Amino acid sequence: MNLVFLGAPGAGKGTQAKKLVEKYGIPQISTGDLLRAAVAAGTPLGKEAKSYMDKGELVPDSVVLAMVEERLRQDDCKRGFILDGFPRNTSQAEALDKMLSALNMPLTAAVSVDVPFDDLMKRLTGRRTCKACGQMYNIYFNPPQKANICDKCGGELFQRDDDKEETIKKRLDVYSAQTAPLFDYYKKRGILKSVDGTGNIDEIFANICKTLGF
Ligand code: AP5
Ligand code: MG
Ligand code: ZN
Repeated sequence: MNLVFLGAPGAGKGTQAKKLVEKYGIPQISTGDLLRAAVAAGTPLGKEAKSYMDKGELVPDSVVLAMVEERLRQDDCKRGFILDGFPRNTSQAEALDKMLSALNMPLTAAVSVDVPFDDLMKRLTGRRTCKACGQMYNIYFNPPQKANICDKCGGELFQRDDDKEETIKKRLDVYSAQTAPLFDYYKKRGILKSVDGTGNIDEIFANICKTLGF
């Protein structure tokens, strides 16, 4: 299964991708997570990326494409992969097509997780993430048992720098202008699968599996 996860900021791409990883052992490739790791490590790439991420803008394609290509060449992707948060504009989608045809790993499906814009602000301002294992929580919708502590590993939870109201608004604008056209892009190729992203996390996951024929 070679998958792309499409969806607005806060739609639940990461949450659902992690469930696929747990159940089927296919690696999740989140460009957001890879960029945040570079920022945390203080690499030159991370420093460049941070200035864009803090404004809610897209990091330049050249940076992201090199990162994705390097990751896709690793052995564990031969059994399949889930691209989460990539591609994010038409030029990234075209570059991905070229990369995958050179690697002989065509996409199976582009899964869109659909959530009304009105729900996204609370999902994003309420998000907390485990520093140690990356598990996501939400103080409004799925809080941890103990405040600020991960249920799974006991790690400390943090709030993302770009989950501030002003930055979220910008991310949603960027999404509408640059990423939303990808629905048509994959629809024309006949591989778009849309799933309702509202309601219970496990039910959404069951729908994704059903849509993919798992
Ligand atoms: P990225 O990290 O990709 O962020 P994003 O696209 O804005 O998406 P999020 O991670 O915020 O949302 P998600 O859909 O994963 O939702 P989640 O599962 O966490 O990108 C960040 C930045 O990096 C970009 O702005 C850009 O600068 C840069 N970047 C990344 N990729 C790039 C690229 N390809 N090109 C250029 N720049 C790039 O869920 C959200 C919250 O909702 C959580 O709290 C969760 O617990 C909760 N939740 C999930 N499901 C439900 C549910 N069913 N009901 C209630 N709550 C739920
Ligand atoms: Mg995410
Ligand atoms: Zn944890």
